[in-house]
Amino acid sequence: MARSAVLNVMVQTAIKAGRSLARDFGEVQNLQVSLKGPGDYVSQADHRAEKIIHTELLRARPDYSFLMEEAGAIEGTDSQHRWIIDPLDGTTNFLHGIPMFAVSIALERQGQIVAGVIYNPSTDELYTAERGGGAFLNDRRLRVAARTKLVDTVIGTGVPNIGRGHHGQYLVELRNVMAEVSGIRRMGAASLDLAFVAAGRQDGYWEDALQPWDMAAGILLVREAGGFVSDKDGGQNMFDTKNIVVGNEHIHGALLKTLKKPV
Ligand code: IPD
Ligand code: CA
Ligand code: CA
Repeated sequence: MARSAVLNVMVQTAIKAGRSLARDFGEVQNLQVSLKGPGDYVSQADHRAEKIIHTELLRARPDYSFLMEEAGAIEGTDSQHRWIIDPLDGTTNFLHGIPMFAVSIALERQGQIVAGVIYNPSTDELYTAERGGGAFLNDRRLRVAARTKLVDTVIGTGVPNIGRGHHGQYLVELRNVMAEVSGIRRMGAASLDLAFVAAGRQDGYWEDALQPWDMAAGILLVREAGGFVSDKDGGQNMFDTKNIVVGNEHIHGALLKTLKKPV
């Protein structure tokens, strides 16, 4: 598997940030037992990881623009290239000592995602994709699962929580999907949900109220693994609508229909 120079930079950066998160995660596990909990510590870990990513990418490509979860948008002199970064996806898992979180870095060129890296330091699983070059888990080429009937599938989702998302609408969607599938999973890290679909571990996934940094790298991974990606209306406006539905051609289509079934 030959990686381009820019993908190599992204991989080295994600691993460096991931190592920093892994060190902090050890401390978070110790802090679970304290009454105050590890809240402040987690927020520092998040910022530390983002700082590492910003510094490394700025050094490698000084002109590119940034969209980062914590620092927001930073315009570079090159507005054609934009990094889209979630330094710690799965914060709630991280906070609770659940080893299911990741660094997510995507590169957009003229509005198109052209490279993506998702790194889970707890499992040392590195997902990479380049437009037209396929998707990989470490050195293994990825392909979405081939199941064609919902009844055989495991589907990932994100459950809205206090103050987030449309709870009533979500319950309708969940009721529709749970009636037709063999299992539903809630990983707690959207980037890993998408990576798991690319890896054929989940047959499909849907979620609402996401941000571009939750999905950018994962969208490319799913596409490059042969999967279909859209918003809930079947369009390509995931960043604007904030929702996403993915799967192989059959499961993606079936999910779109099932989600919209009337009550
Ligand atoms: C969250 C995770 C989670 C999803 C939330 C996201 P964060 O990102 O991806 O799985 O359900 O909608 O906000 O806050 O942990 O970076
Ligand atoms: Ca996130
Ligand atoms: Ca985050």
